Amino acid sequence: MPGAVPSQKPNGRAASDASAPVGIFDSGLGGLSVLRAVRATLPHERLIYVADSRHAPYGERDDDFIVDRTMAIGEWLVGQGAKALVVACNTATAQSIALVRERLPIPLVGVEPGVKPAAAVSKSRVVGVLATAVTLRSARFQSLLDRYAGDCRFICQAGHGLVQAVERCDTSSPALMALLESYLAPMLDAGADTLVLGCTHYPFLDRAIRDIAGERLQIIDTSVAIARQLDRLLDAHAQKSVSTPPETLPRFYSTADGETQRQLAAALLQLDAKVEHVDIPSRRTRLAEPDIV
Ligand code: DGL
Repeated sequence: MPGAVPSQKPNGRAASDASAPVGIFDSGLGGLSVLRAVRATLPHERLIYVADSRHAPYGERDDDFIVDRTMAIGEWLVGQGAKALVVACNTATAQSIALVRERLPIPLVGVEPGVKPAAAVSKSRVVGVLATAVTLRSARFQSLLDRYAGDCRFICQAGHGLVQAVERCDTSSPALMALLESYLAPMLDAGADTLVLGCTHYPFLDRAIRDIAGERLQIIDTSVAIARQLDRLLDAHAQKSVSTPPETLPRFYSTADGETQRQLAAALLQLDAKVEHVDIPSRRTRLAEPDIV
């Protein structure tokens, strides 16, 4: 299951039934690329999606902030009756998956850059990785490289500005294209034939990447692997839903106003669903924003 972080808790402690929803969470809109794959793989699951857009990008936050937010949102989703959690954020997975897995009473799936599948398919043995600075400097990512890079050279580039662009629903402006090209050109010049999208926001830049690199880069996006891992996890816990009608819309929540989330879901996922605002206070945001109670 390339890119998916397996649950190590086959006998999850939650007592929720199969018709309970699956919670999916990201710092913002990127996890919608995972939600798209989950809907395609598991059409009978009810989904609750939380975008912490008010606090994105996590890739420019400190480690404690990311752990604090991930725990708070995971706990909120448990409170909403979620039977399983998908941490659809490489950055949150890199910083907090072990702790969250330890503390939450439901099984969970995280996501990490597809180093292993990239090393398996690259012919030139040069692979580019685009991810957040936090993901790239994490011990988990270094461990992935140590275990799976083999004889491949990985050119790692922090995608500063890309998450913010997707959060604005910008997937094709001239400024974005120039920024993306500045990240991809050195990889292409070095002979990369494969690109790992190590952030769940980046699959929404797929067309922009194609416009710049044509067919020269094989793109590794792990959202389908994550959906398959969730499928296996729900099976293992006998919690797979068979009853929810496939046309049931996800429940969307945002810690910001949710407008760009509604737009992106409509434009790129063809999901016309309302987005509710939610406040999910946590230790760090209470400190930083005393107006939040
Ligand atoms: N989608 C998140 C990820 O996969 C973006 C993190 C951020 O907000 O910087 O890493």
